[in-house]
Amino acid sequence: MMKLGRSAIALAAAFLLSGALPAAHLVLVAGASGRSGSAAMRLLDEEGYTVRATTTNRARAVERHGAQWDWVELDVRDRDAVFAAMQDVDYLICAIGTRSLLGGNGPEFVDYAGVVNLVDAAVEAGVRHFVLVSSAAAGPYRERSRMILFARARHWKTLGENHLKNSGLDYTIVGPSGLRDDPAEGRLRVMARADYDTGRVAIGDVGMLTVDALTNPDARNKSYAVVRDESAAPGAWREMLKAIEIDSVTEESPDHPLMPDPE
Ligand SMILES: NC(=O)c1ccc[n+]([C@@H]2O[C@H](COP(=O)([O-])OP(=O)(O)OC[C@H]3O[C@@H](n4cnc5c(N)ncnc54)[C@H](OP(=O)(O)O)[C@@H]3O)[C@@H](O)[C@H]2O)c1
Repeated sequence: MMKLGRSAIALAAAFLLSGALPAAHLVLVAGASGRSGSAAMRLLDEEGYTVRATTTNRARAVERHGAQWDWVELDVRDRDAVFAAMQDVDYLICAIGTRSLLGGNGPEFVDYAGVVNLVDAAVEAGVRHFVLVSSAAAGPYRERSRMILFARARHWKTLGENHLKNSGLDYTIVGPSGLRDDPAEGRLRVMARADYDTGRVAIGDVGMLTVDALTNPDARNKSYAVVRDESAAPGAWREMLKAIEIDSVTEESPDHPLMPDPE
C-alpha cells in the first residue's frame, strides 16, 4: 500500500472536511496560478467544469487571481501529495513549469519528476484525458540550443512527455512557442513539432487549446506546436489539428535521437 506523507494526509483531510462530493467532469489544473493555467481556468469556469486549482502558494495565488477558486496547495515534487490531490479527478491539465533553470525547483524536479508524479497518479485515478503544456521546441525534434540551460530544460520536458506517452493515458501535448500575454483570438497555426521553426502565441489561445483538447477526438494522443498566425482564419486550426498524425510512442529518428542533451 502507498505510504502517505504528512502533506498528503493533510490534503486528503482538507477534501473530506470541506464536504466536497465527487463531481462529474472535475478538472485538476496543475499550475493554475500560472499564465497558461489561469487562462485555462477562466475558460473551464465558463464551460461549466468543476475545477481543482493548484498552486504552491495559496496566498500568492489569491493575491494574483482572487479567491473565486478553491485553491489547493500542491508541490508536484511531493509524490504522496500529488496522489492525494488526484481523488475523483476526471481530467487533468498540467500547466506547470519552472522558472528556475537550476536548483531544487529546476526542470529535472518539476518538468520531469513532477510530471511523472502527475502522470502516475492520473493512471491510478483513472483520469480520462491528460493535457500537458510543454514547449514547441521540446520533444524528439527539439532544437539543440546553444544555451545549455535551455537545452537541459527541453531535455527534461521531453523525458516528462515520454513518460506520459508511455503511460497508457489518453493525452494531448500542447507545445506553445514564445508566450505573449494576450487574450485568445483563435488565429493559429498548429503543426507537428518536426515542422516548427519559430513564433509566438497568446496565453489565451494556449488556455483555449488545453480546454478544447480535453474532449476533442482530433487532439487525442497527439503532440503539436502552436504559433499565432494573423493570416489564418479564426478556427482554421481545427482542420490543421485533424491533419497531424497520432504520435508513435518513441518518435525517434537518426536525425533527432532521444538522447540526453549534454550536462
Ligand atoms: N514562457 C514561454 O515563453 C514558454 C514558451 C513555451 C512553453 N512554455 C511552457 O509553458 C508552460 C506554462 O508556462 P507559463 O508561462 O504559463 O507558466 P508560469 O506562468 O511560469 O507558471 C508556472 C506554474 O508552474 C507552477 N509550479 C512551479 N513549480 C512548481 C512546483 N514545484 N509544484 C507545483 N507547481 C509548480 C507555478 O505555481 P506557483 O506560481 O503557485 O508556484 C505556476 O502555476 C511551462 O511548462 C513553460 O515552460 C513557456
